[in-house]
Amino acid sequence: MILCSRNAHKARELEVLLPGWRIEPLDVDDYPEETGATYYENAGLKAAFGRARTGAVDWVVAEDSGIEVAALGGRPGLRSARYAPEGAPAIAKLLAELDGVDDRRARYVSELVAVAPDGEELRGTGVVEGTIAAAPRGSGGFGYDPIFIPDGEMQTVGELGDAWKSEHSHRARSARALREALERRLGAP
Ligand code: IMP
Repeated sequence: MILCSRNAHKARELEVLLPGWRIEPLDVDDYPEETGATYYENAGLKAAFGRARTGAVDWVVAEDSGIEVAALGGRPGLRSARYAPEGAPAIAKLLAELDGVDDRRARYVSELVAVAPDGEELRGTGVVEGTIAAAPRGSGGFGYDPIFIPDGEMQTVGELGDAWKSEHSHRARSARALREALERRLGAP
């Protein structure tokens, strides 16, 4: 399965989340701009690009995701990757925007789209609700993980780490839904 993404973190996570599938990242520079109005549309744009680039020789899979902060009206949302340089700068910017704000509610969203060689499309959606921490904690995961505390947990995803993510993250949930769709189409692995 060709993964239409240059994000090495996503590739590593999806390798674990889609067992039985060999994930081959399509590492090219000219991915289209993410102009879709939804995560689903953006994932579809990336999948269509990957399919056009590689030919319909294999399954392609693409993911679009983001973090939505309630007090910011859902920002950065679709623009999470472009909000600020990934990591410490994006975290610092988000914490500054939430300085003095009591409502810390946020959610991670992941939308996965897979397209078969014959053009049939399957999808999976995953959401995790949580809150934004006062300060970053932990070094697991990537992006906003050091400041995201999932509901029902005391620790940030940065502290909970990759083992927690592979079971409970928004991407684990979207991948589970996609896996079920793949199994319905192809039969159990
Ligand atoms: P995309 O490549 O356009 O889907 O960008 C997704 C962006 O959302 C990433 O660059 C991160 O900023 C954020 N994001 C998505 N999933 C995660 C995650 O699992 N942990 C932390 N940040 C994430």
